[in-house]
Amino acid sequence: MVHSSRSAISTGQLPDSGDVKTAIDETYEQFSSVDDGEVPDYIPALADADPDLFGICIVSTEGQSYSRGDAELLFTIQSISKAFVFALVREEVGHTKARKMVGVNNTGLPFDSVMAIELNGGRTMNPLVNAGALATSALAPGETWEEKWDFISRGLSAFAGRDLEIDEDAFESERKNNIRNQGIARLLQSYGHITLDPHEVTELYTRQCALLVSTEDLAVMGATLADGGRNPKTGEQVIGQGASRDALAVMAANGLYEASGEWLYEIGMPAKSGVSGGLVTIAPGKGGFASYSPRLDDAGNSVRGIKAARHLSNELGMNLF
Ligand code: DON
Repeated sequence: MVHSSRSAISTGQLPDSGDVKTAIDETYEQFSSVDDGEVPDYIPALADADPDLFGICIVSTEGQSYSRGDAELLFTIQSISKAFVFALVREEVGHTKARKMVGVNNTGLPFDSVMAIELNGGRTMNPLVNAGALATSALAPGETWEEKWDFISRGLSAFAGRDLEIDEDAFESERKNNIRNQGIARLLQSYGHITLDPHEVTELYTRQCALLVSTEDLAVMGATLADGGRNPKTGEQVIGQGASRDALAVMAANGLYEASGEWLYEIGMPAKSGVSGGLVTIAPGKGGFASYSPRLDDAGNSVRGIKAARHLSNELGMNLF
């Protein structure tokens, strides 16, 4: 039996700009009062976020941009950095080595799982959970920690089209509390799967998570992956098309942790969430959509962000399937 659906079918482009603007306005009005979910408190600096903040933004591959609410407000990028650092590292090491060294399969387990490493013979399973992100950051090119950090911070800034800065308070607050990530890095070292000192790797990863972005920055970063690695704001080719495609594949499979299958079933696009409440969704060839709302569900994904993405995916015909 065929059930009727009012979702638009995916075409090659976003609809006309007027329709996109209307959809953004509607999405903002519809979900700005949703108050399900909790602000996380395991990183002290995140616990202070105002739970009612809400920003949304869409940027097309042509560089057109529409936003509503707190879309210019800065927050720490957290796990969303993982997708873009993977894209940068994948560009350096190539398709096969990235798959072999970091993995591409979903863990089916929470983002900070140690068991996922143990169940996989001591190897990380994908770059979008903490273990795989630590392994990915360790692969950043450079002889010294500073050179590796330079590669990561410059690369993420190129994706955003502006120089991103660190929230030093958030960094300090997390580095004093990231005992679990330090443990994961040590475990990977014990299996011989990272060669960089575990403390240095954890510092690299924790620092990348503390970079400040706005919802508008995230939408530009997403639109860059949507356009095969070309930033629509600056025109810079940040990474190649192959690395871009591989990053999107990994995001489709793993971007919302153990909830990635449900996400793909409902929304049908690659995406990446972060524990500060950011979420970026990519409509390949069309653009990037981003949201910021700090209340999270049990898997660590923004509640309003998921609802907003589902609505827009339907309204604008962005679902890939
Ligand atoms: O390593 C951590 O726990 C945080 N810096 C980032 C985690 C994160 O964003 C996962 N998100 N849901």
